[in-house]
Amino acid sequence: MTTWPTGVRGLAWGADYNPEQWPEDVWAEDVELMRRAGVNLVSVGIFSWALLEVEDGRYEFGRLDRVLDLLHDGGIRVDLATPTAALPPWLTAAHPEVLPETVDGIRLSPGSRQSYCPSSPVYRAKAVALVRALAERYRDHPALAAWHVHNEYGCHVQRCYCDRSAVAFRDWLKVRHGTLDVLNEAWATTFWSQRYTSWEQVLPPRMSPSQVNPGLELDFDRFSSDALLELFKAERDVLREVTPGVPVTTNFMATSGFQALDYWKWAAEVDFVSNDHYTHGEDPERHVGLAFSADLVRGLAGGRPWLLMEHSTSAVAWQHRNIAKLPGELRRNSYAHVAHGADGTLFFQWRQSRAGAERYHSAMVPHAGPDTKVYREVEQVGAEYQRIAELVGSTVRASVAIVHDWQSVWAVSQPSHPTKDFDHPRHVLAHYRALWRAGVTVDFVPPGADLSGYRLVVLPALYLVDDASPYERYVEAGGRLLVTFLSGISDSRGHVHLGGYPGAFRDLLGVRTEEFHPLREAEQVSLDDGSTAAVWTEHLHATTAQVLASYVDGPLPGVPAVTRNDGGTGVAWYVACGLTGDGLDRLTATVLADAGVTGTGSATVEVVRRRGEVAGSAASWLVAINHGESDAELPAVGVELLSGERVAGRLVVPPGHVVVVREEP
Ligand code: GAL
Repeated sequence: MTTWPTGVRGLAWGADYNPEQWPEDVWAEDVELMRRAGVNLVSVGIFSWALLEVEDGRYEFGRLDRVLDLLHDGGIRVDLATPTAALPPWLTAAHPEVLPETVDGIRLSPGSRQSYCPSSPVYRAKAVALVRALAERYRDHPALAAWHVHNEYGCHVQRCYCDRSAVAFRDWLKVRHGTLDVLNEAWATTFWSQRYTSWEQVLPPRMSPSQVNPGLELDFDRFSSDALLELFKAERDVLREVTPGVPVTTNFMATSGFQALDYWKWAAEVDFVSNDHYTHGEDPERHVGLAFSADLVRGLAGGRPWLLMEHSTSAVAWQHRNIAKLPGELRRNSYAHVAHGADGTLFFQWRQSRAGAERYHSAMVPHAGPDTKVYREVEQVGAEYQRIAELVGSTVRASVAIVHDWQSVWAVSQPSHPTKDFDHPRHVLAHYRALWRAGVTVDFVPPGADLSGYRLVVLPALYLVDDASPYERYVEAGGRLLVTFLSGISDSRGHVHLGGYPGAFRDLLGVRTEEFHPLREAEQVSLDDGSTAAVWTEHLHATTAQVLASYVDGPLPGVPAVTRNDGGTGVAWYVACGLTGDGLDRLTATVLADAGVTGTGSATVEVVRRRGEVAGSAASWLVAINHGESDAELPAVGVELLSGERVAGRLVVPPGHVVVVREEP
């Protein structure tokens, strides 16, 4: 199986290219500017359904033929999109039932994009027919390097509640549960008189007077992720049949901010993983969110090469305030993805649109043209990427892992929990940030992953746990495990483990909680080690664990808040409260020291090592990015590839700068 766009030399570098928005005489200049900027891969045709299929079954490929020929003549490879994420008006007008319905029964209109019901047979049939026509048309086109299926599944519509979705949901439930009795048990339908006596009674979790059954909600989340995945697979299977050697991807949104799809399942279905990530201009630590996303994507890729399919050269067009990037920022952002393992970085988009909803979104070629900060930086990075082409194929190894489980996120984010202040993505990011500040590289792994290679494993609110024994074995064998509150509370159906929280982990952690004590809005409690906590506390008893910190005030003075339990040759730590800022950094430092992990970077300088081969011999590279405001010293011996200079022991990295050192042993 081909696992990378074919014919791309070195790191992939380019953008979404939407030439259909421009008169044809602009295209030649596009290719010329792409060549100047070192572009070698573009995603073409993502939103072009209405132009490619002008009416039902009538395809017009002439424009796309000319675009692909031109790109090929310019030496630029094409990641050809299946344009199924934005439906043409002829389709929605003729078949309004393809449109999705919201939780409160409103049918969404066309007029933007992604207005489709994932379970609509009409939508699927039309999409698959178009994909087949496209694949047959371009199967032998020499520019074709990869398929870009659809665009960001679930970006705008994650769940559809229409009658057709209800039918598909029931089919999915029959496969999952087999019988209604099992479903009734799983959803605890004895509560509030919800017992079903026929499948037809089961509906999506539509707007209802009060809290909806949590089992129904959780299964609907699972179904909704799977329904979109089935759509992807339907397109992919056609592409694999017609163009077997061409790798297929779809751009994920594996970021802290998007949690609707179970990407562990999705990652297994693509030939290579690609991802979109956008920073939030108002977040002073936006580079940490970027690193989080890149590490998560590397985990999804599971050792395979991966591509950053989209980020922005400067401002986006969908935040409250669309802040332009500072000089050097697009460069740092690009290198940060590469540092964390990407074998290429592309932007949305090539040329900034003159019109349309994203006309103020930045691009590689801005409205003001190539004589701009943005295009110059683009040219600079494009040239530099050629100097670091040898990084392609190398990988990143980490000694710390975070277990991430989208299904736990869905379950713990439901409204019927002790507090609405708990924000799972923010919680995971807080723990990730503490590790990032300690300069440590982190892997993300799914529940059930082999943990034996890690010195430290973090379980941030791993809520759904049927069986804790893999974690018990990990600690028994010497592993260090850091577990936070709201972990191990329920089985995979969402039923609470009895006998005291955190049920599945009670023995491993040597604790027993009798009651949760979420805090009031803005309330903070103090711990006797000088830390503070917000959002969450619990009435915890240490059974075999050693108490590291207890509350000095708040609802639970004297009650343990942070514990450590020795088991076998390892240690299991429990954080029973929402530790904030310094306290979390200090605890993280203690745990890292106990696990024998030292960081490669610092709180301001991101340093990640990639390992691979050069000319058949083992090689390693340090990619360092100085996010701070003063010079940083990097201990290194080797060659700094961007400048070509030798490094004999230490290298000064000025603020805002990036270096890539090929290390010498
Ligand atoms: C992505 C999307 C692109 C573009 C971009 C703007 O979510 O895939 O088509 O809309 O955002 O930031």
